Amino acid sequence: MLRKLTYYRKHGSESTERQISTRCTHIRLCVCRMMEVEVGHHNVLLVRSEGIYSAIGNQCTHYGAPLSKGVLSGHRVRCPWHGACFNIQTGDLEEYPGMDCLPCHTVKVENNKVYVSVNKKVIITFKYLCVMVCSLSVSAGSASLVCAETLRQENFGGRIIMVTRDNLLPYDKTRLSKVNYPNSVFPNSVSSAKFPGFPEILAKGLECPGKDLENVKMLETPEDARQIHVACIGCHIVIVGTSFVGMEVASYMTDKASSITVIGSSELPYQKTLGPEIGKVTMMMLAEKDVAFYMNDNVSEVRGENGKVKEVVLKSGTVIPADVLIVGIGVIPNSEFLQGTPIAMDSKSSVIVDKCMRTNVLEVFCGGDLATFPLKMAKDQRVNIGHWQMAQAHGRVAALNMLNIPTELNSVPYYWTVLLGKNIRYTGYGEGYTDIVVKGKVEEQKFLAFYIKDDEVIAAASLNYDPAVSAVAERFATGNTITKKEADLNFKWFTLTVCITQYPIMS
Ligand SMILES: Cc1cc2nc3c(=O)[nH]c(=O)nc-3n(C[C@H](O)[C@H](O)[C@H](O)COP(=O)(O)OP(=O)(O)OC[C@H]3O[C@@H](n4cnc5c(N)ncnc54)[C@H](O)[C@@H]3O)c2cc1C
Ligand code: FES
Repeated sequence: MLRKLTYYRKHGSESTERQISTRCTHIRLCVCRMMEVEVGHHNVLLVRSEGIYSAIGNQCTHYGAPLSKGVLSGHRVRCPWHGACFNIQTGDLEEYPGMDCLPCHTVKVENNKVYVSVNKKVIITFKYLCVMVCSLSVSAGSASLVCAETLRQENFGGRIIMVTRDNLLPYDKTRLSKVNYPNSVFPNSVSSAKFPGFPEILAKGLECPGKDLENVKMLETPEDARQIHVACIGCHIVIVGTSFVGMEVASYMTDKASSITVIGSSELPYQKTLGPEIGKVTMMMLAEKDVAFYMNDNVSEVRGENGKVKEVVLKSGTVIPADVLIVGIGVIPNSEFLQGTPIAMDSKSSVIVDKCMRTNVLEVFCGGDLATFPLKMAKDQRVNIGHWQMAQAHGRVAALNMLNIPTELNSVPYYWTVLLGKNIRYTGYGEGYTDIVVKGKVEEQKFLAFYIKDDEVIAAASLNYDPAVSAVAERFATGNTITKKEADLNFKWFTLTVCITQYPIMS
């Protein structure tokens, strides 16, 4: 469990109280359940768990999902959208990607009535603390930001220096491929000292003649996003890569570009991660919006005119007219600056850390996309996972261990992607799965898929099936396995969870 995060400052004790009748049936009292109530214009989650009532804010601090539609498990509720967890008695954030804790309200039960009191002037949140002398963090990404924030929450009074090649305050990278870039609000740029020796961003992943032409783009920063948006309006765009970023960009561009062509090296999109059946449906979703796919193919040359992209030549010989080429492949760790240092890396240049995010060098920690770490739910197999939520968890664990508060990483991976406004959610670690069990109908875009290895569910993905993936994540988090048989035949556990979480607390 994460330690308490004290984000909320209460101003005054003025409160609003609402009385809620408790005409509960005996059966309803026997199980945990929760409901949304409004108290003085505050959206409150009222929970009854193990006979005890509690009330916390109902809006997830990540993107505002209603927690009443999430999964209640023991002392915590897991968000239905991207898996953040909050303690139902304290409002504490227990799993990312939530940004802050939730306000916690007073509940009393008198004469068969429940009273919820909400402080009227609750709550100013402060999200980022980047004060500066003892701790140096290279990067200002997701992991580093949470690391710095945790150090301050734990009363570390020394200086924290964040070194980054960005000239922006930390931002939500996951939005870069999902929202309207020019109109979206990203933090202002900051004045920055220039440090020598930081490598420039390379067009990683595309190794062919013409890769350095103008309008060959990668999507890593808000500035990349703005440039891609501007360059693509009304133009012919080609996207290389049919994994999460490539497909999201294609989806985002459907009503902006004049033509979109996607190149994939496998037979179907997401083939390795989500499997062929789901891959096929996602391909059809985009094909219906006139996105053209060239699968089992790759780029062999980018031809230009006046220094700009003009045509993309594929290995198969196909030539595609293009104004912009977006490279959504070849994610490799940006660890060049560590070459030649004693810090141990694996064959893919990821930094090797232990469960406490310690590298082999004393007092040097690493987290986020750069780290390869032992994943508890995968029997401590060493993995490299590029998820926003996991990077945040790394940052927190690293900070606590820096402060000699021994803490091991026990987060369950959780990822999401958005295609044409529809969310595919994913939890677990599906590498090496041998079988997929699907509930619902993939072709109707309403499904829950279980990924199986050695007779156990190791990951799950869903579309229009909330909060099933959060329920699976919660099951993984408790360390309980889901057998293939359970996934295959006995669907009751999941339907029960969904049922409980949506069941009203009282009539
Ligand atoms: C377009 C896009 C969409 C995504 N969508 C999702 C999603 O929907 N859900 C999800 O879970 N994850 C998503 N991800 C992945 C997620 O953003 C990453 O897993 C997460 O940001 C990793 O955090 P991090 O702290 O390791 O690095 P980052 O957040 O990438 O930050 C790296 C930081 O290091 C700095 N830096 C890099 N090299 C150097 C250097 N040599 N010297 C100094 N500073 C350096 C950079 O400037 C940056 O500040 C997406 C990623 C991208 C690119
Ligand atoms: S909205 Fe709750 S985790 Fe994203």
